[in-house]
Amino acid sequence: MRIENRQRLVVGNWKLNGNLAENAALLGACANAEVRVARTLGVCSPYPYLSQLQSVLANTPVQYGSQDVSRFPKGAYTGEVSAGMVAEFGCQLAIVGHSERRALFGDSDEVVGEKFLRAQQVGLTPVLCVGETLSEREAGMTEVVVARQVGAVIKIAGVAALAGAVVAYEPVWAIGTGKTASPVQAQEVHAFLRTYVAKHAVEISSKLPILYGGSVKKANAAELFGQPDIDGGLIGGASLVADEFLGIWQAL
Ligand code: PGA
Repeated sequence: MRIENRQRLVVGNWKLNGNLAENAALLGACANAEVRVARTLGVCSPYPYLSQLQSVLANTPVQYGSQDVSRFPKGAYTGEVSAGMVAEFGCQLAIVGHSERRALFGDSDEVVGEKFLRAQQVGLTPVLCVGETLSEREAGMTEVVVARQVGAVIKIAGVAALAGAVVAYEPVWAIGTGKTASPVQAQEVHAFLRTYVAKHAVEISSKLPILYGGSVKKANAAELFGQPDIDGGLIGGASLVADEFLGIWQAL
């Protein structure tokens, strides 16, 4: 049974896309999106655009933020951007542990845990991404992998930290591939994650928003979001197209 007091969200993850002119059109559409009760629309952009997000979205219900933060608060770390800097732009959200960061930039479970903590320390809501690769799924390791990924964050930040967080289950084989997990496949892992967190803290688990990500489109969103443990979506490619993104928002 769906628990209705859980926050429901659709969050866009622009990845390495955007420019000032295209962003302006997309953000304008988001700012004018229908306001919906107990539902949150969010946008996570590359760092240089955070001030643009702030100027368009700050006085709207749309939340916004970054796609990562540094594990360090400040210092001699060339090229890094701290959670505190992100928060200065009025952001509410920070994605951490996206599979592209884990696979391409070496973010280990421990580094993701540290980033999660940094985001939370400055008042951002971490959107913690977890998910298995195709070979891990085929080897029957899905639950082991996602439990390890969430477990590392619980170890570093403590289970109470999940009370102010969002989890996104994103099977790596479904990201940007056009292959969506079926609603049943996704629901199975979402239910597993909720049960796993419940072993540490039942109350926190029942209120934890768990988003699905991986080739969500306007056409498949409603069925995914209708599953009892799917509380919304983290949207990559489709978040760059206003009509698609707002169609997904309507399906929430
Ligand atoms: P996708 O990406 O929607 O393009 O599959 C989702 C994500 O990586 O967050």
